[in-house]
Amino acid sequence: MDHRRPHLSREGTSLKIGGVGAESLAKKYGTPLYVTDVGRVTDRFEEAKAALTARSRDVLISFAYKSNSTIPVVKALARRGAGATIVSVAGIELARKAGVAPGDMVFDGPSKSKEELAAAIAAGVGMINAESVQEARDADSLCRSLGSAGVRLGFRVNFGIRAETHAGLATGGREHKFGVARDEVVRFCEKEGKKLKFVRVAGIHSHIGSQVTDAGVFRRQTEEMIDLAGELESFGFKVEEFNFGGGLGFPYRSADRELPVADYAEATAGVFARSRWGGRARPVFELGRWVVADSTVLLTRVNYVKKSGRVRWALVDAGMNDFIRPALYGAYHEIVPAWTSSAKRSAASYDVAGPVCETTDVFGKARRLGVSLAQGDLLAILDAGAYGSSMSSTYNMRPLAAVAAVQDGRGGLVSRRRF
Ligand SMILES: Cc1ncc(COP(=O)(O)O)c(C=O)c1O
Repeated sequence: MDHRRPHLSREGTSLKIGGVGAESLAKKYGTPLYVTDVGRVTDRFEEAKAALTARSRDVLISFAYKSNSTIPVVKALARRGAGATIVSVAGIELARKAGVAPGDMVFDGPSKSKEELAAAIAAGVGMINAESVQEARDADSLCRSLGSAGVRLGFRVNFGIRAETHAGLATGGREHKFGVARDEVVRFCEKEGKKLKFVRVAGIHSHIGSQVTDAGVFRRQTEEMIDLAGELESFGFKVEEFNFGGGLGFPYRSADRELPVADYAEATAGVFARSRWGGRARPVFELGRWVVADSTVLLTRVNYVKKSGRVRWALVDAGMNDFIRPALYGAYHEIVPAWTSSAKRSAASYDVAGPVCETTDVFGKARRLGVSLAQGDLLAILDAGAYGSSMSSTYNMRPLAAVAAVQDGRGGLVSRRRF
């Protein structure tokens, strides 16, 4: 058993996920194949929920669907009380299918079209988080033309908080496209906010980035939100919802810095609950990555092994279109054998790469896998549950990878390879 990932186990070079053999899944459903242990997802969700509800009442974890939008995952989370943070019309449909009540849906996005805003209003989502003041005006006129009774709106506020994370994952700096500057939110609420007929400004939202592991940054975010809520109150606005975004980091390498979920909960829910807003407003957490990252492996078959100069390549059948994080962010993901024809130990190292004609289509460099690889062997790319299948594409006219779900020794296909 892998002590960091209790749902993974191995006998020799054969990997099991959720008690189901990787090779049997790969044979049955083909590769590349995402395999998710749904029990692991709900365990992580319950861990986060326990940490947050120990510090504040009325917590809503509004799972970030963009991180993993597979139906067994979102259904299992909805059954445990998760809301849904969505950013598209299809996201609303999926949340509905999962069983999330519209009031527990949060609609986010920095550049929503009028059609998207109209769909969110018509669906009766609990909160639309606006990222410009024009969006608030548009939502108001759309409510009028749709004959809607009204909508609750939060502002995603750009407090100018810089999180130490990959540049492509930081969103809270003043130079980023996200949110509305604090001053502008204040000015808008003071001058125009009360004139809106159908939009009720009722929320403050902040998401400073992903893969954040500094409790101090989350604490500062909470303090900024509390401070702004006080100022908005002085103009007669009642902040009903504090949305802390997501962003809690996941350690992809065992040596990575990790922020314990209890410390995260303290910096957000704890500080919030002790403020005068505790018990008066609902704290919302849009966690994605931390909940689902380690639930899933991407199984991929070795097509070819070849040596080129000093590099030994293992060329596999998954490509950057199936799993883009390494190519997009230089993200590190552990790669392990999932089944090999020979169990002979070897110190050989491999660069593991896909079939796409792009130099960045590489999943790992100089990886020692403990065995020598041959055509037909099966590898597992670990911790592929967040921004894995949900970020995949059909680039190179390749079908999307198949997806399977497992739990307690049983598994089934969720979606076959498809365009
Ligand atoms: C507004 C918003 N909320 C929540 C999330 C989820 O973040 P994470 O998966 O890092 O928890 C994101 C991710 O991009 C986001 O943009």
